[in-house]
Amino acid sequence: MDSTKYSLADFYDISDMDMVDRARYFYEYHQDIHKKHHNQYRRVSLNGSGPTMKILDPYSGIEKEMIYMASNDYLNLTRHPRTIKAGRAALEKYGTGAGSVPLLGGTLDIHIELEKRVAAFKGCEAAIVYTSGFGSNCGSIAALLRENDVAILDMLVHASIIDGCKGTHVEYFRHNNMDSLEKVLRKCKDKFRTKLVIVDGVYSMDGDISKLDTIVELAHSHGAYVMVDEAHATGVIGKNGRGTPEHFNIEGKVDIVAGTFSKALGVVGGFIASSKEIVEYLHYYSRPYMFSTAQTPQTAASLIEAMNVIEDEPQLKENLWKNINYFKKSLIELGFNIGNSETAIFPVIVGHDVKVREMCREMHEAGIYVNAVQYPAVSRKLSRIRMSLMCNHTKQHLDRVLEVLEHLGRKYEIINKPAAEEVEIA
Ligand SMILES: Cc1ncc(COP(=O)(O)O)c(C=O)c1O
Repeated sequence: MDSTKYSLADFYDISDMDMVDRARYFYEYHQDIHKKHHNQYRRVSLNGSGPTMKILDPYSGIEKEMIYMASNDYLNLTRHPRTIKAGRAALEKYGTGAGSVPLLGGTLDIHIELEKRVAAFKGCEAAIVYTSGFGSNCGSIAALLRENDVAILDMLVHASIIDGCKGTHVEYFRHNNMDSLEKVLRKCKDKFRTKLVIVDGVYSMDGDISKLDTIVELAHSHGAYVMVDEAHATGVIGKNGRGTPEHFNIEGKVDIVAGTFSKALGVVGGFIASSKEIVEYLHYYSRPYMFSTAQTPQTAASLIEAMNVIEDEPQLKENLWKNINYFKKSLIELGFNIGNSETAIFPVIVGHDVKVREMCREMHEAGIYVNAVQYPAVSRKLSRIRMSLMCNHTKQHLDRVLEVLEHLGRKYEIINKPAAEEVEIA
């Protein structure tokens, strides 16, 4: 099989193939992308997240030090001495696990402390915490919206939101387009019981910020509620790193603030912060909360400390923003199309799946860890290299990435800057 003629979409549902045949067919495709060194998924890290990372090279089988441009660990709190120390102390005190689901014996005092800390950090009355951000989005929406309701989604919201809407009606509006949102709100006005507009605070593939202030105003004026997913906003935007509502100075006005603990907070899990009534309801009707064992104690402890660190050490976010501003300016000067990126996530739009695969292969060979984002994750004309920044990337790291990107940009005719001197790739 020639994998360059296929995408992941081609193996999703093939009507005349049973599951085993379909998996075998996909396996052939997967072997070919590996053979062509186009498979950048599941590269194995030997030392965890940081501005550089040791990888077990899937092609040579040997250790390779790479500049890591794919982490959501924006403030590198995964390695912060305080988050590690707090986790270690909780491990000693409570042991390795919570022992049960939260409703039936698995709730520890440290979980309650975390819920209170999240609610305070997000300026909401109460919060519920889950073991994954995917579960908190999916499980809370499924609990809150039913047959007579409607979810009104920005067309670029995260998959966990879309999956949560399977038991309700769904309407989409064009990405961050307020005219389109207004049209959908009008259309839904008298047709459904609950109307919930759901957006991401910062979009995970584009790095742009939702127009949350206008969205809240529009939704409320049409009798709809608003839920925002703060996965990539927490720790990154807002004066104190509290996310999109803080960025727009509308804390307390968003009906449901969702988020993950796995990105800037550097651990794992998710949360919903809202009114005490919504949170209490979710305790009893949100299935990933009810039917899944509570977070590990060390996770809860590290998370509480992560929020303390964000408040006590604003220089981490300041350094991240120094890197964002430098990298953004440099990419634009080089002539790359970075869409509407406004935060730590940078798409370099290539618009051609095979070119993206080849460029990512060459970046891997050059010791730079980036991700290829192709159809069906984005449309083919928007296929891209996705990069994200951390507060402790150095100027040398970023300059090396820019040097290699410039070389590849010219080689693959993404930019047409005149040739500089040759760049050493491997
Ligand atoms: C916008 C957004 N929401 C939710 C999630 C799910 O979060 P988690 O990885 O914590 O399950 C992700 C993550 O990967 C995300 O990018």
